[in-house]
Amino acid sequence: MKLASITEYPVRGKRALVRVDFNVPLGKDGSPADDTRIRAAIPTVNYLLERDAIPVLCSHLGRPAGKPDPSLRMDGVAMRLAQLSGLKIRKLDGVVEPEIGRAVAGLKAGEIALLENLRFYPQEEANDPAFARALARLADIYVNDAFGTAHRAHASTAGVAAYLPALAGLLMGRELAALGKLLEDPARPYVAVLGGSKVADKLPILSSLLDRVDALLMGGGMANAFLAAAGQSIGASRVGSESVEQASRFLRRASDQGKTVGLPVDVVVARTIAPDAAFRVVGVDRVPPDWVVVDIGPEPARRFGDLVQTAATVFWNGPLGVYEIEPFAGGTESMARAVANCGGHTVVGGGDSVAALERLGLTGAIRHVSTGGGATLEFLEGRELPGVACLRRMA
Ligand code: 3PG
Repeated sequence: MKLASITEYPVRGKRALVRVDFNVPLGKDGSPADDTRIRAAIPTVNYLLERDAIPVLCSHLGRPAGKPDPSLRMDGVAMRLAQLSGLKIRKLDGVVEPEIGRAVAGLKAGEIALLENLRFYPQEEANDPAFARALARLADIYVNDAFGTAHRAHASTAGVAAYLPALAGLLMGRELAALGKLLEDPARPYVAVLGGSKVADKLPILSSLLDRVDALLMGGGMANAFLAAAGQSIGASRVGSESVEQASRFLRRASDQGKTVGLPVDVVVARTIAPDAAFRVVGVDRVPPDWVVVDIGPEPARRFGDLVQTAATVFWNGPLGVYEIEPFAGGTESMARAVANCGGHTVVGGGDSVAALERLGLTGAIRHVSTGGGATLEFLEGRELPGVACLRRMA
């Protein structure tokens, strides 16, 4: 069934509850350290404003576990949205309280509101129907533009859709189109690069990717689990025994299917994970027992880069080393350059990989930078996301 989109619905003059994903990393001063997700929400806001609709934006920020947390209020996000869009944003200090309802009802065409952090209310994550109904009462239509949170079945991402005409925003539409191409008949060769540290979380997507890709390349904590599974020592690097067992089952399956799984043949090792720690490059059969693996080495950086640059489709998620520490960022940076140099359909997802691209000024060279982390991975596993499923009916 087709998705209902704001482009196909008479939104003119409507009050629109717009679920955005403003769950952004915060810097030491509490302001957004990366505003990719905030920028990505602006086209839908403008689309609504141009049609005299009134956007009432709402999002979660962090994981306050159902209780107000002053460090996770939406004020800093509202300020950044105002700076980036040049629009005046009215930040409201609540969500479903009667005074918030009155403030929202009093908004005029041209005005925009941003509600307080939805996760200050336990009913949000519980997908409480009464809370979802209270959210719905704020508006005439519901617009879901929070692709990054579409894998959560919460009141604002799924529940509210039962009570209002429910429409996909422009960002949601763009994400589904670009990621959909990876699921349906991708141009070949298709190379996927997986890094980062959440090994147990990413193993399910690996299995489903394996069926679709021509080569799967690994770095970061992911690669450590696979190197251990392949019988290499990973020194003092930590990886759970369950992940190693799953990785070794995966390697057997890949070899049965004749698929390439690219693991580093050399790595950067360091005494500790610190900017001033001693480090050097060693072959994967020479990792000293008390050193940790902190990056892929120059040889895999070159081999992976060649495969990626000549691919027709590339998906990259997760840094290939401890990229936030300069001496251990080489593998991630060379991957960022290789993906940027690839002329095919390139998709990068996950906050850290996107931050690495930003740092190098390469974001504009990528065909699609996904605002999703977990949502992107679950979508590529072939799962229907609750925040998307709830839009699959014409309003
Ligand atoms: C994300 O950053 O992946 C989304 O905003 C969802 O956040 P969550 O993992 O806290 O539900």
